[in-house]
Amino acid sequence: MQEGRVRVLSLGEMTEVERQLDADFDVQRVSAKDLPRFLDERGPSVRAIATRGRDRIDAAFLARVPALEIIANFGVGYDSIEVDAAARRGVVVTNTPDVLNDEVADFAVALLLATVRRLPQADRFVREGRWLQGNFPLGPTLRDRTVGLIGMGRIGKRIARRLSAFDVPIVYHARRPRPEVPYRHYPDLIAMAKEVDTLLAILPGGAATRGLIGAAGLAALGPRGILINVARGSVVDEPALVEALRSGTILAAGLDVFADEPRVPKALLELDNVVLAPHVGSAAHHTRGLLGRLVL
Ligand code: 8YV
Repeated sequence: MQEGRVRVLSLGEMTEVERQLDADFDVQRVSAKDLPRFLDERGPSVRAIATRGRDRIDAAFLARVPALEIIANFGVGYDSIEVDAAARRGVVVTNTPDVLNDEVADFAVALLLATVRRLPQADRFVREGRWLQGNFPLGPTLRDRTVGLIGMGRIGKRIARRLSAFDVPIVYHARRPRPEVPYRHYPDLIAMAKEVDTLLAILPGGAATRGLIGAAGLAALGPRGILINVARGSVVDEPALVEALRSGTILAAGLDVFADEPRVPKALLELDNVVLAPHVGSAAHHTRGLLGRLVL
């Protein structure tokens, strides 16, 4: 231990901040596998945690870091942290709101377009020499679609603003109406899914939204339906989604987030009507640098 320096437990690499963390703190980088032993041996000396949300920080975890004063979350979504338990202990929890709104909104629209226009499939078609045998099959369009946003928070609003420029009708489901936006609000997700053909999830994860998009919502969305998820894997019932994609209950999905990252179900890897991304909504040097500064 470096004398006099605050010991920081770093959980998951935070690219753009690592060097500066080292300059200012006694940083202990610990893999998920080594975490239990680290907490046994050195948990009591930890005063700060910087986390990417890889490891669940609950009451049992907090009991093993009695000197902890702050948890700094590298990301806006802090569903991996039991904030009530932290608050009871007087531990401050911080996140990185706002600085990633535009980056994630850009990516959400990119994933929507890639899924609707089958961009990765078209890329594979050219690479595999299949164009030489004939044209790429015609597919769906954004032109005749209505997008139902699930969530109308800071990022949702930026997505809606971008979609307006595409002349796509927008409606949304959120627990409370947002009078500041001009779009129709549906208090009931199933009712909205029945009326639209495209759902885009951008809402917080955690217990309150677990499995929100399940078999009933997917059935309501219907056979032209496309689901885009840039929120958390937990908001979708993943087995129900696999089944809906397999059976044609919905048409396609674009997914940046999964229930058990980085493990993506084999069933999804095998489907051609899904576009997959490795949780990269905010993953650009510029924006991750801004996140890093907030963590510091
Ligand atoms: C983060 C995210 O970059 O902010 C969030 O909630 O999901 C991402 O944008 C991610 O948490 C970093 O691991």
